[in-house]
Amino acid sequence: MSQKSFMGSVELSAVLSVIGIILLFLTSILVVLVAPQHVDKSWVEPTSSYQVQIYELADPNVFISGMRPDTQEVEVVNRLVSGESLLAFQESKTLKIKAEEGLESYVTKEGEKPLKLTSRLLLLRPLDEKGASGETFELFDPKKEEAFSIGSPDVVLENWVDKDFVVLDPKNPWHEVSGVIYKSNPVEYRVSTYIEAGRKVWKYDPSGEPIASLDTLKEAPYSFLSRKELIQEGEHVYQIEGCWYCHTDQTRTLVQDLVLNGSDSFPSPPSSANEYIYQEVTFPGTKRNGPDLSRTGIKRPSRDWHKAHFWAPKTQSKGSIMPAFRHFFDFDPRGTGRKTVGVPNYKFEAIFQYLMTKGTRITPPTEAWWIGKDPVHTLEIIEGRR
Ligand code: HEC
Repeated sequence: MSQKSFMGSVELSAVLSVIGIILLFLTSILVVLVAPQHVDKSWVEPTSSYQVQIYELADPNVFISGMRPDTQEVEVVNRLVSGESLLAFQESKTLKIKAEEGLESYVTKEGEKPLKLTSRLLLLRPLDEKGASGETFELFDPKKEEAFSIGSPDVVLENWVDKDFVVLDPKNPWHEVSGVIYKSNPVEYRVSTYIEAGRKVWKYDPSGEPIASLDTLKEAPYSFLSRKELIQEGEHVYQIEGCWYCHTDQTRTLVQDLVLNGSDSFPSPPSSANEYIYQEVTFPGTKRNGPDLSRTGIKRPSRDWHKAHFWAPKTQSKGSIMPAFRHFFDFDPRGTGRKTVGVPNYKFEAIFQYLMTKGTRITPPTEAWWIGKDPVHTLEIIEGRR
């Protein structure tokens, strides 16, 4: 049969149906995938400067490595770049700073306001003084373009540029420089390596060698990852562990969601499309066997809480049916004693960092909408008792 006679034998209505189906298909693609970014920019662009900062500015500058078995501590390192990182050196009751010649003007004395900020790359190092309490530091100029400073896991979320700061160098308007992060009292990150059981291992050591470059920091044996890389890894862990079987990641506009994720007088904002723009896969979910996780970063910011919860959910939440995720930990001590918690591995760090983006993309963690406000009266509200 030739092409012409085949077409001739097909009813016109059938041809129109096929064309209709194709048109419908194209229209739905247009409506769902193409139109939104033109209809409402806020769906595809970050709306909070904090969201931009946590992903595009601060993140490339924070590097995290998994826990080391000897110290059980996570190592957090800040990458500071001359002219792009804002630093502050502040004395307190327990912390004193001695400044090199010409650097005294960068030190904020105890109780002095406002905090003095500088975009010059200066660092503190512990002062080797006999009898010194260890809380005396020397301010020095490492004369480098980039340097690495030690951080604390608790402040990873707080590396954001605060309001009301004065910049000492007027040639550097910080808010216009991309990559700017604000760091208080950065202490130089020095390490020393040693051999243990035939393996090259390392530790933070104030009298060791400073890390030379970002490449060194990211390569073996240090193997640091940026926070952004860890968040991506965490998204993957969330996916393959099937957290979405039991959890949703979406605050609906329903009153129980707004109140459960906030409080009755300060309800949580409902989820908006732009909260997910940095994710490759999103998990809005359907099953709510466990609580919604879209505001976890604000509701549960404690690393220790998550550590205990993944190790043994029932210890944090009576009668929890959530399974334990003990493969998020290494050196499982169950053989020797059930009391000790395993040492979190990169899977824990990744899922923790991922959870910490939930809700904090719209609000800085220290400015959460309900911090210090009314206690939650969720049950009363849902059951109509109030
Ligand atoms: C079998 C269902 C189930 C699975 C799978 C599950 N969870 Fe849970 N999860 C729960 C339940 C139920 C709770 C509430 C009780 C509790 O806090 O343990 C909960 C609580 C939580 C909480 C505390 C939330 C809050 O606001 O109190 C977090 C965070 C959490 N889960 C994260 C995860 C992550 C991450 C995964 C995947 C690695 C996961 N869960 C897998 C059922 C589950």
